[in-house]
Amino acid sequence: MAASMSTTMSLEENILRDIRTQFFEMVPIRRMKWKTTHSIDDKDISPDLQRAVLKATVQDATCKQYPPSLSYQRAFVKSILHKLEDIDADICDEIYETYGDLLQQKEEEDDTLCYKTYTLPCGNTVSLQESVHLISQGTTGLSTWQAALHLSEWCSENSKFLENKRVLELGSGLGLTGITVCRKCQMKSYTFTDCHHQVLYLLMKNIETNFAKQTYLSQPTYTPSDIFPSTSKECTDKKDGRMMKSIRRQLSVNAEPSNPCTVSMCSDIMEISYTSTASSSYDEENSEDTFSDQNDFHVESQNWVMDECLPGMYFFDQDERIRLLKYDWETSDDRILWDLAPDIILAADVVFDKSIMPALVSVLRKLLSLEMENGQRATAFIASTIRNEDTRDHFLIVLANEGLTYEIVDSPKKKIFHYEDTIPIEILKIQCPAGS
Ligand SMILES: C[S@@+](CC[C@H](N)C(=O)[O-])C[C@H]1O[C@@H](n2cnc3c(N)ncnc32)[C@H](O)[C@@H]1O
Repeated sequence: MAASMSTTMSLEENILRDIRTQFFEMVPIRRMKWKTTHSIDDKDISPDLQRAVLKATVQDATCKQYPPSLSYQRAFVKSILHKLEDIDADICDEIYETYGDLLQQKEEEDDTLCYKTYTLPCGNTVSLQESVHLISQGTTGLSTWQAALHLSEWCSENSKFLENKRVLELGSGLGLTGITVCRKCQMKSYTFTDCHHQVLYLLMKNIETNFAKQTYLSQPTYTPSDIFPSTSKECTDKKDGRMMKSIRRQLSVNAEPSNPCTVSMCSDIMEISYTSTASSSYDEENSEDTFSDQNDFHVESQNWVMDECLPGMYFFDQDERIRLLKYDWETSDDRILWDLAPDIILAADVVFDKSIMPALVSVLRKLLSLEMENGQRATAFIASTIRNEDTRDHFLIVLANEGLTYEIVDSPKKKIFHYEDTIPIEILKIQCPAGS
């Protein structure tokens, strides 16, 4: 009897963990696996288990601190309700109450930014502020893509490769790969880069959220009162508030149609334009727009220290291994690459557009042909979702034309995250042979 009880307990715990991790990753409800690896009879879905599911998800402290979008929370509870009705279960009152509460909650001015929280096997979590739309603001960098999750899994399994190495990430987006690597691996340094202002701003905040927890744990809503120390609190709160408002407003102006098929049915990511597509009337109203100067990314935060030797490079002051740099493959000065001299280059989902491949591969070529003091050259690991074979083949041709060699590495053995992998994801190991 005791044995069967403990089996039931651990089964419930496993189910709760599966549901909880999917909920905080905001796995689309239609893809949610309610009984993943663990199976439970419908008759065992007791009111107690239902309460436990609510406690582990919408009522959990993480949901207050790093909330998934309100519309997702509503859809999640509504879906539970429907499932319980379908199996004619004894439904606990809390489900109805929670759903009612969620319906009454006032949505933010718009529901464009939310948090996704990814759970690592050790139980640690990575919480990222993301756009609810895959493509917004003319960039794909405001949400986390499958290849980043896949590359994070690969890096976690192959952390030895990164030990004591200088790692540079190209097109970091919101930072999932880098933050996971920094949590898991003992690298010498990790430099996050991207070219898009809003992406860099959210990336900076995501790094702070995950590595300056002592500062932010007690602040469910981000109010960076201790940022911008050189100006008054009132002024800095206003500035930060304006930045967030600007991102939210522009995201809502530029939101793609909410039909998920619009994106998922594309064979490749939409062509990227770095010209802001925000409505002109909004731009006129906001001539002081925080992002109006696209050429200059300037961090004014006491959490970041400007590198005096490398222009544009910032160190995270609580862990100097973590660095942030605005770097555009097409326009940035190459000289910084010599100073960075990374041993390992990582990138996820950057091979989606033929027109940017020459610039990307040229940067790779420069980085991979540098010789370190020990005579060794760097290695790049690029993870790509193969949405379009033609785009992938074109990338391989451009690599070969630049004299770079490549091989496909084994996929990670264990899937940690709940991303869709019906479209294959491939990690290429790219090198520049000695003498070329
Ligand atoms: C599809 S997103 C992938 C983001 C992240 N690596 C991920 O997988 O979640 C592509 C990223 O590449 C960045 N990017 C695109 N063109 C770039 C360029 N010319 N220079 C630097 N970054 C660029 C975008 O800003 C965006 O963050």
